[in-house]
Amino acid sequence: MNGKRELQRRRFLRFLAASPLLASPLGLRGVIGDALAEELAAFEVATPAQALNIFDLEAIARRKLPTAHFAYLATGVEGDLTIHANREGFKRYPIRARRLVDTTGLDTQVELFGTRWPTPIALAPVSSLRAFHPDADLAVARAAKARNHLEIMSTLSTTAVEDIMRAREAPVWFQLYPTSDLSITRALVKRAQAAGCPVVVLTVDNTTSIGRETLARARFVDKRDCTACHVPGVGSTYRTKPMFEGLDVSKLRSSLTDHLTWDFVHRLQDMTTMQVVLKGVVTAEDAALALENRVAGVIVSNHGGRSEESVRSTIESLPEVVEVLRGRMPVLVDSGFRRGSDIFKALALGADAVCVGRPYAWGLAAFGQPGVERALEILKAELETVMRSVGAPSIASMRKGFVLRA
Ligand code: FNR
Repeated sequence: MNGKRELQRRRFLRFLAASPLLASPLGLRGVIGDALAEELAAFEVATPAQALNIFDLEAIARRKLPTAHFAYLATGVEGDLTIHANREGFKRYPIRARRLVDTTGLDTQVELFGTRWPTPIALAPVSSLRAFHPDADLAVARAAKARNHLEIMSTLSTTAVEDIMRAREAPVWFQLYPTSDLSITRALVKRAQAAGCPVVVLTVDNTTSIGRETLARARFVDKRDCTACHVPGVGSTYRTKPMFEGLDVSKLRSSLTDHLTWDFVHRLQDMTTMQVVLKGVVTAEDAALALENRVAGVIVSNHGGRSEESVRSTIESLPEVVEVLRGRMPVLVDSGFRRGSDIFKALALGADAVCVGRPYAWGLAAFGQPGVERALEILKAELETVMRSVGAPSIASMRKGFVLRA
């Protein structure tokens, strides 16, 4: 690598590292002193077990991934303020801890559409996983199997649904980006249903996929020749994706969901027997419409801050959606969940399950399948620790007054 390019790369990484989103032991300076803080900050995690939290996995992913691939994972839109807002939102919901409660038989089980899961933590759909590790979707499916988590696969996966299902050895949910050609959309849905997916998750929040400045900037910096994987031209987003194999993508527009209305939701319901879940609902109005239009469930999501610069966290969006839908259909939530306490807060506010995207993708980039497993293990352990420490022995017990808006 030539000197100038390396300098640019370092500058870009410094720009990312300076983000207030990134936890750093340097924040401890005042407590443990400069010298020890520097030493801790310099320590490089080398094994999954040494990753103590999700941010450790993020740091390794940043070190290992090519600049543009890390930026693809990290990016939001415009100034990445919604990513920041997703994290800040949790601070507005402190936990009211109860004491002298027996939590020895801790129970984290949840039921979604008749299937019982040992944990409410699910894997959100993440496209193009091969950009983070060659084992990609297969490593993720094997990790989800090893630790028995619900997995939602992406339309834009780098492995086809049948192979993911074989690796998971259980049904996964299929996330759908409808295309501008209804016959192609129909083919995708038919294939997922035939493979045995019980649920189709229609993403309704990613209307444009533009304005990802962090990613755009990284592309200027990353000077590798990427043409082997990134094929230019119309339909190129789809051409390399296995779910589109055998389909004519030459006329597909690249924008993902800008043509969607409730009319499409009806069409989807008519074309499949899978349960239809909407991903990206963030208001009471749309929750009410979901109910009216016989949708089976919703995921409160702003796409991890990647779809619009709303500057509104999903933990703040969740209560109004729960108020309309509680007990009538499953409400899942994602975007910015990094700690067991974040997950606890969503469950306490009425979510049935919490999905994570970047945390397991960082684990994948860091260590492959063991890294994904470590990410899931960390989140599960942290959630259980919070439940024990605040006196909530089960998910049902969390719903009463554990979290109030500050
Ligand atoms: C995503 N997300 C996503 N969502 C979706 O419905 N279909 C997809 O193909 C993708 N692809 C994708 C790629 C990458 C790199 C990221 C980071 C995210 C959004 C994802 O499902 C989820 O909503 C967010 O990732 C949740 O936020 P966190 O956990 O990443 O903060």
